[in-house]
Amino acid sequence: MTDATPAIAAVEISGVDKVFETRSGQVQALDSIGLTVAAGEFVSLIGPSGCGKSTLMRLVADLDQPSSGSLSVFGKSAKQARLDQEYGIAFQQAGLLPWRTVEGNVALPLELHGAASAARTARVAELLDMVGLSDFADRYPDQLSGGMQQRVAIARALAEQPRLLLMDEPFGALDEMTREKMQTELVRISAETGAAVVFVTHSIPEAVFLSDRVVVMSPRPGRIQEIVPMRLGADAQRAARTEELREERGFFDMVTAVREALHGGSPVAAGPRGVENR
Ligand SMILES: Nc1ncnc2c1ncn2[C@@H]1O[C@H](COP(=O)(O)OP(=O)(O)OP(=O)(O)O)[C@@H](O)[C@H]1O
Ligand SMILES: [Mg+2]
Repeated sequence: MTDATPAIAAVEISGVDKVFETRSGQVQALDSIGLTVAAGEFVSLIGPSGCGKSTLMRLVADLDQPSSGSLSVFGKSAKQARLDQEYGIAFQQAGLLPWRTVEGNVALPLELHGAASAARTARVAELLDMVGLSDFADRYPDQLSGGMQQRVAIARALAEQPRLLLMDEPFGALDEMTREKMQTELVRISAETGAAVVFVTHSIPEAVFLSDRVVVMSPRPGRIQEIVPMRLGADAQRAARTEELREERGFFDMVTAVREALHGGSPVAAGPRGVENR
């Protein structure tokens, strides 16, 4: 199913608009969004609060529908992709089931897919180890900090080794140390599994560290302002990204490039688009 067709995009978004009807009138959250995320590619969305990042993620995840335009996930409709469990999700709210333990929450997608009990137990142990929660397997979500809950959600999203991960500020609630550790883990996991990732963040260094491309959005209505490809040293392979990268010149250059794109429309700082000024 997958190996023979590597050319199918993980996500294909074309001319997507989203208008919300509210009591005080219409809110255009997204305007003519076009974006293709290749299989295995890591794409981050960054932009000011309210620019439509979560809205766009919700459309991809079939939690809401576009007002116009089209959207597909591995060549399927958003709905079909959801039914086929084509992706794992980790969103702003951890979204754990309060009546299930940590272990029970992580095991849920495996249960839904009918994994054998022994294999499930082994996989859950491996995942909890990865997110550093082995000692909390039998706790309930309300006994955990926000950051720990978020790590459970991430483990759950990874449970089935999906070929697409949709992550909306998954590390927002984590302390800086844990956050960097999770970033490194995510780079490793996505490189190892070849999963495509669509990742929302407010952190420029986080976007730079993780991504192949950073999509910069502008607010009201949400549009794609610029797409910045990450060029990080001679070996730009994601698998080669390590902690040292954060100290490198090329890393800071990319942080500057994304920052300038975010402040686009400020001609003095950025100059004409595409012009190198570093
Ligand atoms: N269900 C809804 N009904 C009405 N308006 C909505 C709805 N959901 C989102 N919006 C509006 O759409 C716009 C985009 O919201 P969205 O949550 O996508 O922003 P965001 O980029 O994720 O912001 P943040 O960085 O703060 O998470 C906002 O103006 C918001 O008020
Ligand atoms: Mg959001």
